[in-house]
Amino acid sequence: MAKALNLSANPLVDPFGRAITYLRVSVTDRCDFRCVYCMSEDMHFLPKADLLSLEELDRLCSAFVARGARKIRITGGEPLVRRGIMTLFRSLSRHLAAGAMDELTVTTNGSQLARHAAELVDCGVRRVNVSLDTLDAAKFRAVTRWGDLDKVIGGIDAAQAAGLAVKINAVALAGVNDDEFERLIEWSHGRGMDITFIEVMPLGEVEGQRADQYLPLSQVRARLAQRFTLSDTPYNSGGPARYVRVAETGGRIGFITPMTHNFCESCNRVRVTCTGTLYMCLGQEDAADLRAPLRASADDDLLQAAIARAIARKPKGHDFVIDRATARPAVGRHMSVTGG
Ligand code: 5AD
Ligand code: SF4
Repeated sequence: MAKALNLSANPLVDPFGRAITYLRVSVTDRCDFRCVYCMSEDMHFLPKADLLSLEELDRLCSAFVARGARKIRITGGEPLVRRGIMTLFRSLSRHLAAGAMDELTVTTNGSQLARHAAELVDCGVRRVNVSLDTLDAAKFRAVTRWGDLDKVIGGIDAAQAAGLAVKINAVALAGVNDDEFERLIEWSHGRGMDITFIEVMPLGEVEGQRADQYLPLSQVRARLAQRFTLSDTPYNSGGPARYVRVAETGGRIGFITPMTHNFCESCNRVRVTCTGTLYMCLGQEDAADLRAPLRASADDDLLQAAIARAIARKPKGHDFVIDRATARPAVGRHMSVTGG
């Protein structure tokens, strides 16, 4: 088993000494929601012909596993709306079975989770992140434009019933859900789920002003500390969130603060889009095309060379700013393109 993986003795390490052990793969830029901070109302999506096939996505992921990626997160857009997506989970699960990978996971809006939960478990998925910004059905509809809260809650129910650990992701939105954080925490913890708050990032053009939506999590944390007893924990789920434990509920709250705290020093990840474009940093434009080397030959030499060249120029970090003077987003592409 280990013999076939001798490349992993040669892990990908970037110029700043960071080993790339975590791959996030956006399998579609499409979504059945249109969240106000994520998408514009009339999004233009990629022509289907530009997408990598599920087989090509598997080859791409496997090339990273061969070079030491231990964790793969399937994202989108909404990954579970891509036709046949379970085929990809099924094929990637072989790396879990072989011990070549530690974790296969998914970030989803939950709308299709009820249908897929049991099969995800069968493919070795143990944890899922579900995006949920509000528990108020009308607000949920307003934030997602197209979403149905009951369906998402049904998806979470099904995921938990199937044995998946669920983590809730909520984007902190000033004037939208900032009156609900306590309720979201109590609800999540009451169901045995961690919850992570995320600062809104300036990714892609959306209607309205990001400066109006932006809410620094330092403020949120200070406010929560008046209601709950919070203590820092060393717990790390492998991502950029910093966690606190809530004495009253026994649950954890994560804070992802790309705006107020830069966690780039410990970045272990890169992102691939559904067209095979590799982004070395969420907050930078530089990218490498992996589709051409993938398609140019049936073996992976060209692909591996292209990956190595790209990792050799992974930038040190991002420098997001949200203010009224900066009218344009830091990067032009939406989160749904690069992967959440
Ligand atoms: N800023 C912060 N979070 C975002 N998400 C989507 N767009 C943005 C943005 N501009 C979130 C989604 C989901 C996760 C994948 O990313 O709400 O929780
Ligand atoms: Fe879809 Fe997630 Fe973007 Fe909302 S945040 S539109 S659910 S991809």
